[in-house]
Amino acid sequence: MNKNAFGEDFNWGVSTAAYQIEGAHEAEGKGASIWDVFSGTKGKVKLNHNGNLACDFFNRYPDDLQLMQIMHIPNFRFSLSWSRLLPDGYGRLNKAGLDYYNRLIDHCLELGITPWVTLYHWDLPHALEMQGGWTNRLVLEWFQEYAALCVSQFGDRVKHWMVLNEPMVFTGAGYFLGVHAPGRRGFGSFVPAVHHAALCQAIGGRTIRSLQPETTIGTTFSCSYIEPFRPHEKDVRAARRVDALLNRLFLEPALGLGYPLDDLKFMRRIEKYMQPGDEEMLAFDFDFIGVQNYTREVVKYSFWTPFLQASLVPPRKRNVPYTLMNWEVYPESIYHILQQFSRYPNIPKLIVTENGAAFPDQLLNGQVHDPQRVSFLQQYLQQVLRAKEEGAKVAGYFVWSFVDNFEWAEGYDPRFGLVHVDYETLQRTIKSSGYWYRDFLQGKATL
Ligand code: GAL
Repeated sequence: MNKNAFGEDFNWGVSTAAYQIEGAHEAEGKGASIWDVFSGTKGKVKLNHNGNLACDFFNRYPDDLQLMQIMHIPNFRFSLSWSRLLPDGYGRLNKAGLDYYNRLIDHCLELGITPWVTLYHWDLPHALEMQGGWTNRLVLEWFQEYAALCVSQFGDRVKHWMVLNEPMVFTGAGYFLGVHAPGRRGFGSFVPAVHHAALCQAIGGRTIRSLQPETTIGTTFSCSYIEPFRPHEKDVRAARRVDALLNRLFLEPALGLGYPLDDLKFMRRIEKYMQPGDEEMLAFDFDFIGVQNYTREVVKYSFWTPFLQASLVPPRKRNVPYTLMNWEVYPESIYHILQQFSRYPNIPKLIVTENGAAFPDQLLNGQVHDPQRVSFLQQYLQQVLRAKEEGAKVAGYFVWSFVDNFEWAEGYDPRFGLVHVDYETLQRTIKSSGYWYRDFLQGKATL
C-alpha cells in the first residue's frame, strides 16, 4: 500500500511544539513561561535538562524548513509561545515575538509548507500562573485576548488552527500529579483547571471563528485505547472509568454532551465551579478533532488508588514490546480509538495530529539507522488506513516529531524525531525513518 490508498485530500505532516524546539527562552523580550520556571527548578526534569536552548529552532528555522521541504512534508504543525507574544500574559505586546512568528509563517508559505498552528501547547506565561494560572477563572479572559491576538495577527495566512494541546495531560500532569509545570498537586487545583481549560477550548474556537469564519478550527486530545486486564466485572468497570478520564473528559463537553460524570463520580465536584450558562459555553462545533495516540493502556481494579480505584498494568509486566517512554507498541490502539471517536453522532472529521515513538537512536558515521521507528510508523499507518476503510472519519496524519526535542519531564533522552539533533553541535541528520517518510510522501515507499 502506498500513500494513494489514503486519498488525495488526506493531510500529511509533522508536529512540534514551541517550548520543545525553540530555545531562545529570554530572547528579545520574551516573558518566562511555567516551563521555563519548572525546568529551571532543580529536580523537576530528568538530569535537570531545560528548554533554554532546545533545538535552537528560533534561530535555525530557515534551515529546518528547508530540510522539511527536502523531505516533501506538506504540512507543519507548531505552536505559538504565549509569553513570547504577551510577556505578562495579557496587555503589553512583544513586537519582536510578533515579528518572529510572522517571519516563520511567511517562510513556511514561501517554501510551499502549510502552517498548522496550535495556540496553546502547555507553556502558560509564568505571570499568569502567579495569579492562579488555569485554576483562576480569569484565564477565560486572558485566553480569549491571546487567541484574538494570534488570529488577528496571523489569521490572514494561517488557515488551520488548533486551540489546545492535550488538556487532559497539562491539567493531569501539571495540576494533579505535579510532574509537569507548574507542578501543582491535588484535586483542589486539578478540578478548576479542568473546567477552565474545557471552557477555553470552546472559547478559543469561537474566538477564531468570529474573526476568521472561513478558517479550519480544531483542538487536540491525548487518547489511548483502554482495555481491562482481565474480563472481570471489576476490571471492566475500572477500564471504563479510565476511558472516561483519559479519552472523554474534554471531548464530550466540546461535543455538547457535558462531562462524563456518570462514569466519573469523583469528578462531580466540578459542578462547584460551574456558573450559569457554562454547560452551553463548553460546546463548540470544531471542524476537526486532533487525535494524538501512541499506545493503549491496560487497566485493572485497584482498591488502593484513591478516587479512580484503577491502575495501569505496565507493558513490561505483560511481556509486550514497548518504547523508551515505557509505552506499549500496539498499532491497533490507533484503529480502535479512531473507531471509538467516529461513533459519536456529531463528531467532525478526525486528524491524527501526533503519532510516533522514542527509540534509542545512535548517530554512527553521520547516519541514524532507526528501523524500529520505520516499522512503528508503517504499522500504525496501516491501522489508520484500516479504520478509514471501515468508515472512520480520519482525514490526516502528522508524525510526532519532526526533530528530536525536549521531551518535558523526561528531558532530551527520549528521541522522537524523524531528524536527529546532536545537542552539542545542534547539527541535524535525517534518520532512516525521515528518508522513509519522504519516500512514502512521494508515493515511492509503501507500508
Ligand atoms: C504528547 C505531547 C507532545 C510530545 C508527545 C510525546 O503528549 O503533545 O508534546 O511530548 O506527547 O511524548
